[in-house]
Amino acid sequence: MSNGEVGGNGPARERITLITGASRGIGRALALALARQGGTVVVNYKRNTDLAEKTVAEIGEAGGRGFAVRADVETADGLSELFDEVARRCGRLDHFVSNAAASAFKNIMDIGPHHLDRSYAMNLRPFVLGAQQAVKLMDDGGRIVALSSYGSVRAYPTYAMLGGMKAAIEAWVRYMAVEFAPYGVNVNAVNGGLIDSDSLQFFYNVEGMPPMQGVLDRIPARRPGTIQEVADTIMFLLSEGAGYITGQTVVVDGGLSVVAPPFFADVGEALALPPRPTRGD
Ligand SMILES: NC(=O)c1ccc[n+]([C@@H]2O[C@H](COP(=O)([O-])OP(=O)(O)OC[C@H]3O[C@@H](n4cnc5c(N)ncnc54)[C@H](OP(=O)(O)O)[C@@H]3O)[C@@H](O)[C@H]2O)c1
Repeated sequence: MSNGEVGGNGPARERITLITGASRGIGRALALALARQGGTVVVNYKRNTDLAEKTVAEIGEAGGRGFAVRADVETADGLSELFDEVARRCGRLDHFVSNAAASAFKNIMDIGPHHLDRSYAMNLRPFVLGAQQAVKLMDDGGRIVALSSYGSVRAYPTYAMLGGMKAAIEAWVRYMAVEFAPYGVNVNAVNGGLIDSDSLQFFYNVEGMPPMQGVLDRIPARRPGTIQEVADTIMFLLSEGAGYITGQTVVVDGGLSVVAPPFFADVGEALALPPRPTRGD
């Protein structure tokens, strides 16, 4: 695939990446990481024009090129307009990162048909329709990465709607990987745990949520992940080194998904983990 990295005889083509939802959070961190490698980044957003323009300015300062496209990916028309703009201004694409997400957080009995419709339209449809559009622009192979979360495989309060969409994303990743392999397009998901961001703060502010610190204490890493750590994982999946990885979900969660109750944070002194032992102990 064309990865923009030096190799072969001709000059490397500049890598072009479209990120949905790159005005803030993980999308913005990824945009800046790509810019540091000299790529072109299309910064999609919905509301925050000032933040999107700030991301574009920072892309320039970091050594890349970029432009912002305001488009609501929750609507099929908005998504089409986004890809029309990419086609018009870039003519081709190397990477599509389906990152934008939004949800109401409700227990199952409080979810109505409109909640379900919006959740599908916002969190799954842009990935599927966007991947179709992206493949048509990937004239020399490419990479598609979708953002998932641990709610795809674990159940916790108010997350059923978004968790169901994330589980579907991971399934679609596998199907796309198979159908797009002949086009040289790899498709993977990155599944984040608790990642320090606006959306994490919003989630823990939902009425009735327990304090976040108690949850962090139960994660083996005992801290939230950073948006940079998620962006770095996506960068790897977009790199030459990940050329043989497709159809996979890479988990970035500090060990959250491998623990079960009883948690080390809750055990008595007799079982508490000591500070790191040394050879002299
Ligand atoms: N943060 C976490 O703890 C965490 C954990 C696991 C997985 N993830 C996943 O990682 C991804 C990014 O999360 P994040 O926390 O970085 O997001 P975020 O900070 O909430 O940012 C959301 C981005 O999506 C854009 N957006 C929202 N609705 C849109 C729409 N209808 N059309 C176009 N753009 C829209 C926003 O644009 P505006 O600025 O204009 O609103 C913003 O750029 C999501 O898929 C999320 O599920 C996050």
